[in-house]
Amino acid sequence: MPDSTPRHVAVIMDGNGRWAAQRGLPRLAGHEAGSKSIERCVQACLDTGVEYLTLYAFSSENWKRPALEVNGLMLLLERFLNQKRDEMVREGIRLHHIGRADDLPPPCRRKLDEVLHATAGNSRLHLVLAISYSGRTEILDAIRSIACDVKSGVLDPGAIDATQVEARLGTAGMPDPDLLIRTSGEMRISNFLLWQLSYTEIHVTKKLWPDFQREDFLAALEDYASRSRRFGGV
Ligand code: IPE
Ligand code: IPE
Ligand code: MG
Repeated sequence: MPDSTPRHVAVIMDGNGRWAAQRGLPRLAGHEAGSKSIERCVQACLDTGVEYLTLYAFSSENWKRPALEVNGLMLLLERFLNQKRDEMVREGIRLHHIGRADDLPPPCRRKLDEVLHATAGNSRLHLVLAISYSGRTEILDAIRSIACDVKSGVLDPGAIDATQVEARLGTAGMPDPDLLIRTSGEMRISNFLLWQLSYTEIHVTKKLWPDFQREDFLAALEDYASRSRRFGGV
């Protein structure tokens, strides 16, 4: 794999609602169409050798949407995991979850646990789903855990460093994203991976998520390959 291929791609899959509105369809039809884009991206990662794909599927803030949409999204998620389980096992895809699993409806939670378990031995592609995820909450949880260890005397305050924090994030053990893609043209990160994105290259496209094709993913990789990453150096 050439150096110019990102190891880890993170995606803010945005624009499903607008895609549906443009067609006079309910928002859920947009979310349903969006799951096809996930399939295309996963396949493109398998083909190009991207090792980690992190998808922002549902933020902690998304719980405030109407119950009809939230329930529909949870059902869609459960269905997606159910339909993809065997393929993930076969293709060497390992599923990971970041976010608050306890918030999920029990059937959805059970399906998630089942697929996490079924794919735990895989390593060809790590597919990380951010569900009920908040970057600030993730950092706060890490701070709380560090504070507990300091209080109990296991950790010296002077020993708190980036490694200590990273070990307590949902993404512990994973490389930081090299490339962040956001669809639908919004120029914000919406509480996604606040710690991990510190030096990530950002690619924003106006395409709405359900319209996002394999070529769009490849174009993002090409854009990434043209960047000069300096990490503060010269
Ligand atoms: C992204 O699409 C999917 C989720 C946030 C679950 P949106 O539902 O945010 O679509 P827009 O931004 O309203 O078009
Ligand atoms: C971010 O999209 C969350 C996901 C893609 C799951 P939103 O549509 O919720 O973000 P905002 O509200 O435009 O910032
Ligand atoms: Mg949106």
